[in-house]
Amino acid sequence: MILKKIIGIDLGTDTTQIYLKGSGVVVNEPTIVACNNRTDRVVAVGNEAKKMLARTPAHITALRPIMNGVIADFDMVKELLQSFLKRDDIPWSWITETIVSIPTNLTEVERKSVEDLLKESGATSVYLIEQPLVAAFGSRLDINLPSAFLVVDIGAGTTDMAIISMNGIVVSRRLKIAGDYLNQEIIKGVRDELRLHIGEPTAEEIKIAVGSVIPTGERLELTVRGRDVASGLPREISIRDTQVRLWLVRPVKQIIEAIKDLIESAPPELVGDIYKNGMYFCGGGSLLRGIDQVAEKEIGVRVQIVEDPLACVARGTGLVCEKFDTHKHLLNNFSRLKLDE
Ligand SMILES: Nc1ncnc2c1ncn2[C@@H]1O[C@H](COP(=O)(O)OP(=O)(O)OP(=O)(O)O)[C@@H](O)[C@H]1O
Ligand SMILES: [Mg+2]
Repeated sequence: MILKKIIGIDLGTDTTQIYLKGSGVVVNEPTIVACNNRTDRVVAVGNEAKKMLARTPAHITALRPIMNGVIADFDMVKELLQSFLKRDDIPWSWITETIVSIPTNLTEVERKSVEDLLKESGATSVYLIEQPLVAAFGSRLDINLPSAFLVVDIGAGTTDMAIISMNGIVVSRRLKIAGDYLNQEIIKGVRDELRLHIGEPTAEEIKIAVGSVIPTGERLELTVRGRDVASGLPREISIRDTQVRLWLVRPVKQIIEAIKDLIESAPPELVGDIYKNGMYFCGGGSLLRGIDQVAEKEIGVRVQIVEDPLACVARGTGLVCEKFDTHKHLLNNFSRLKLDE
């Protein structure tokens, strides 16, 4: 019997995670590529490229090649992935099976683009699995039962939600309102109300340090620097949780409305199961203070944020890698690209 060497890949808008069977997570780095415009060559990927993001010299561009969960720049994603797969701790040429997690509701073209990416990178056998399903698996939900579970993965570029039962997705929705969108709302709020231009990294820092959608009981405050809208000169301001909340409430409400829509589209029995089992939130966006409480109040169903929500897709993919044969029932949801030759 050939010993299978299996890897699982989560190409997130914000973070790429690669799980190698028997070793665990071997890559957990930003999905960023830095390019030299003069030579058209990639100069760095991942952590190294992130350092260059905001402060690149004129001839270097740092970009995020995955947008809203889908491949936006095929060649750049290929460079990124190939550079990760070439690392010493990944025996890429020995890998027999590659599992890639993908958002729900991809178009044929988007799906094909993931398959082509792996094919062109030298993969022999590729399986695709939808992210909410693998997130449910990573959260150790009993999704094989004839009961329904609602999983909401709030990532950077997409909020992907699905009602899952008996190892399959019954209904799903995906929207482009997620972490990046919240950052943009903060950029707009700071510019329009506080008259300061800030960049995306600062907006994200604000969101993580003082962002909330309900009062948290503590006063949160952060000092940030940016460029004054009128004078164009540097200025420092102190920003409070109460100010940021005003900017985040509307997009979070849109996410909650989408969850309500999804529940409304589900068969009645499954709605009963969801009421009983509660909803499961994962992805980095689920860490926003109070998002679970607001959703619980608006929808009337208990919300649980899964353990280590940033890692749950990679963890789920990892579980499938480790117990590949035992979890073959999940393979119904995989599309096999090419059989072993
Ligand atoms: N404590 C926090 N509070 C609010 N948001 C957070 C927190 N920590 C991380 N995030 C946000 O989570 C997002 C990253 O989450 P995640 O790694 O799940 O996304 P991704 O899988 O790369 O993206 P996607 O699934 O959309 O392709 C970022 O937008 C980040 O700002
Ligand atoms: Mg994700």
